[in-house]
Amino acid sequence: MGRLEQEIARRRTFAIISHPDAGKTTLTEKFLLYGGAINLAGSVKGKATARHAVSDWMEIEKQRGISVTSSVLQFEYDGCCINILDTPGHQDFSEDTYRTLMAADSAVMVIDASKGVEAQTKKLFKVCTLRHIPIFTFINKLDRDAMDTFDLLDDIEKNLGIDTCPVNWPIGSGKGFKGVYDRDSRSVVTYADTQKGTKEGTETRISLDDREELLAEIGEEALDKLEEEVELIDGASAEFDLDAVRAGMLTPVFFGSALNNFGVEIFLRGFLEMALPPSARMSDAGLIDPVEHGFSAFVFKIQANMNKAHRDRIAFMRICSGKYEADREVRHVQSGRVQRLSQPQQLMASDRKILDEAYAGDIIGVFDPGLYSIGDTFCLPKEKFCYEGIPTFAPEHFARVRQVDTMKRDQFVKGISQIAQEGAIQIFQEFNTGMEEIICGVVGMLQFDVLKFRLKSEYNVDILLETLPYEHIRWITHTDVDPQKLVGTTDMKRIKDLKGNPLLLFINPWSVQMVLDRNKGLELAEFSRN
Ligand code: G4P
Repeated sequence: MGRLEQEIARRRTFAIISHPDAGKTTLTEKFLLYGGAINLAGSVKGKATARHAVSDWMEIEKQRGISVTSSVLQFEYDGCCINILDTPGHQDFSEDTYRTLMAADSAVMVIDASKGVEAQTKKLFKVCTLRHIPIFTFINKLDRDAMDTFDLLDDIEKNLGIDTCPVNWPIGSGKGFKGVYDRDSRSVVTYADTQKGTKEGTETRISLDDREELLAEIGEEALDKLEEEVELIDGASAEFDLDAVRAGMLTPVFFGSALNNFGVEIFLRGFLEMALPPSARMSDAGLIDPVEHGFSAFVFKIQANMNKAHRDRIAFMRICSGKYEADREVRHVQSGRVQRLSQPQQLMASDRKILDEAYAGDIIGVFDPGLYSIGDTFCLPKEKFCYEGIPTFAPEHFARVRQVDTMKRDQFVKGISQIAQEGAIQIFQEFNTGMEEIICGVVGMLQFDVLKFRLKSEYNVDILLETLPYEHIRWITHTDVDPQKLVGTTDMKRIKDLKGNPLLLFINPWSVQMVLDRNKGLELAEFSRN
């Protein structure tokens, strides 16, 4: 195996999906701890930046400049080079969160054991299933009282529509948490309270057949219950099938307590055994093999700098094939330009560094002179293919946007169009109005604030935002349907996107089905691929 092949084969690139507070940050910290990337847990992200309120967001964004450090983390573990893509939650939740999932090869889903599947996890999961990427589940906070384990698995299966296969099984929870039973080795790994990870824990591994020692460690009651449950799961749960895991149809489930460092390393090892290195990706020239093909990458996120003094932007790209070398020229396919990428950076656990080389699977951030768009492809100068575009995700909040000073129409149109083209918001129009009245759609409410702030600071335009009651958007996928002739519902609104694609907005979710029933042959989609 050549060096290139070896480097790509040892890469694993994944995103963590979860509902706020399930423990994503804590789990990430522990991964880095085990990978030796940080010495002390708790130093990855200051809570202040991780959890700011909307009101102080602008200030923080200004202070931190382009907040790349928390976007991608890379660390080494057991010979593998692991890239973690952060999917912002809380107020930062936006379309970027979804786009990040387009750059990952697999996803780690963190679930709070006392809560089961929550709303944000469900949304992010849906996007993962679009790409059929493998999903690994870590059920966290077993040191707190948890839901019944069978109910938790049932909840995942019913709510998310994916089969589950427990790799290990928790023994009790809360004060009675004793550890996990590892199904493969038929042994119990005991839990030691590490006082929120501040103390070293000692884990012992005891075979299920060693009844005496188990009795001494976990007690009779817990052991009886475990034996009963083991019999049940061995008989009832889905057979472990690695192909189904890799096809995103079966999720391996692990249990633990990230805060107490318990179960994290077991999870990491299991994940590395099952997750795949970067694989071929579809382009308009067919599948692009990560090893056989020279350098190629696509842009999945563009981050504008909120600091007025630095109007630069960073384009985040995922390398899909070959090796990136800093002194080599590459082609930006969409503009046709051949150039060296400017200030390429790779993001390590605690700082960013200018990099000389990176491989398929890695994420790099490059300076964007304002030329790049989300979904753009970069490849070797002699090539010209494009990767499949990143879908446009359904906004969930809508507002009518008007400029305060109508004399500034040109700046307003220019500003809002550029910000939309960058992917920070989506803009729509009614069929019979011009650009002076625009409907803006976002995934997270914070995007409205960003729009307002950026129009003011970069284009000197003040706007008024009038929120609209619509929550459900559907693209009309049949091009021969005339939206004006559709039999609609009273809460339905017809609009078009910037490319002229017709869309429908609804207040009530049930109206979507009603309109489908009323118009034979109509097809609606939640994502747009144009
Ligand atoms: P997030 O990124 O998914 O939003 O979650 P985060 O890791 O920030 O964790 C949310 C809260 O849950 C934190 O508590 C964290 O300490 C706690 N937590 C994470 N994992 C575990 C676990 O395994 N067991 C228990 N008991 N708690 C866990 P907090 O009170 O909000 O913050 P802090 O004061 O503890 O820092």
